[in-house]
Amino acid sequence: MAAERIALAKAGTPWPELERQLKAAGEHDVAWRTGRAPAFIHFAGDDVLDVAKRAYLMYFSENGLGLRAFGSLAKFESEVVAMGLALLHGGADARGAMTTGGTESIFLAVKAARDRAAAAGRRSGQPNIVLALSAHPAFDKAAHFLGLKTVRTPLAADFRADPQAIAAAVTPDTVMVVASAPAYPHGVMDPIAAIATAAAERGVWMHVDACVGGYIAPFARKLGAPIEPFDFAVPGVTSISADLHKYGYAAKGASTLFFADAASFAGMSYSFDNWPRGQYMTNTLVGTRAGGAIAAAWAVMNYLGEEGYLRVTRRVLDTREAYEQGVEGLGFRTLGRPELSILAFGSPSHDIAAIGRAMVRRGWLTGHVKNPPGLHLMLNLTHEPVIGEYLADLAASLQEAARTGGDDGGALKAVY
Ligand SMILES: Cc1ncc(COP(=O)(O)O)c(C=O)c1O
Repeated sequence: MAAERIALAKAGTPWPELERQLKAAGEHDVAWRTGRAPAFIHFAGDDVLDVAKRAYLMYFSENGLGLRAFGSLAKFESEVVAMGLALLHGGADARGAMTTGGTESIFLAVKAARDRAAAAGRRSGQPNIVLALSAHPAFDKAAHFLGLKTVRTPLAADFRADPQAIAAAVTPDTVMVVASAPAYPHGVMDPIAAIATAAAERGVWMHVDACVGGYIAPFARKLGAPIEPFDFAVPGVTSISADLHKYGYAAKGASTLFFADAASFAGMSYSFDNWPRGQYMTNTLVGTRAGGAIAAAWAVMNYLGEEGYLRVTRRVLDTREAYEQGVEGLGFRTLGRPELSILAFGSPSHDIAAIGRAMVRRGWLTGHVKNPPGLHLMLNLTHEPVIGEYLADLAASLQEAARTGGDDGGALKAVY
């Protein structure tokens, strides 16, 4: 980004003018309310959004760093964690905390696993994390920051992690094995039990990345979706990341990180006392935490309750099935067997990048997967009413791509 300088205005600007400018700045943003965003948004209805906003504003100024000062936030956090642990079958010794997002949850799980392995003193070389090709880059980011390396294993033909490949990649330097529930690229659930067994047999920390699935898969299972156990019900699972700001429908800045036992949980905390201002202790990477995000998560979970989550999940699953059937009806091929809210599909006959470019020209922001190439959708209730429009535009884009043979002068890179 250019190092442009903007001098702070001498005089302040009144709110009405700022509001006008704020609105104008967003005019060309993706029209997410009408389902044009393939990711980034998790909408469960205006009523849910309203609850999240009101709760957020009520605790806008409060700080989750100061739980000593804000017993309110301590209560909200401990209740959110308790509800999450109940959903994910945490045992009596299981613990957890709220973080600001999936990346922070993953970072802290990696840090805890690294520290446990270091304390056990089994390593000879650089510590590593073994994970499938489809796992989220947050693990590589954490590894990069924490002095580890990642070893990525190939996917099975169904795009799920291959437990044998993972088991074969584990060495005495492996501090963590990862499985995703589901993985972001194809929305498929990894074979958690087989991977957990492989990890347990080798005495390695097993993390389940349920950032996407943590607050939707339990409800999908209750609704009868054939999803295998993926949480602490599976022996060998040490930690789970589950994002509240995705399918928990909370305000952004909210995730949970859970541990099977108190000793593992201790690895997420940090304490320091060698300075004048007294003991500093956090369970998170960040210090100051938005009180609003904690309060909003608590409020939304209680507003929806089990019935609300089941209701929204039913609609999300139906929406994914409708998109899946619709794209297959047009000759596209679903990549893998998605079980929740994510759908990736390729074309056996046409240039999917050209189809994507034609969709962009029709006003849809597109998400992409690589190898094989496909379009990617992370669905929520904004996508429910526009399925007909989406499929009509996809059919027209397919025809356009067939006409131009993909030679429409564009280039499209798969970006997150
Ligand atoms: C499977 C998975 N893990 C982790 C993350 C990272 O979450 P965040 O963007 O909240 O840091 C994502 C984000 O989409 C994800 O899909």
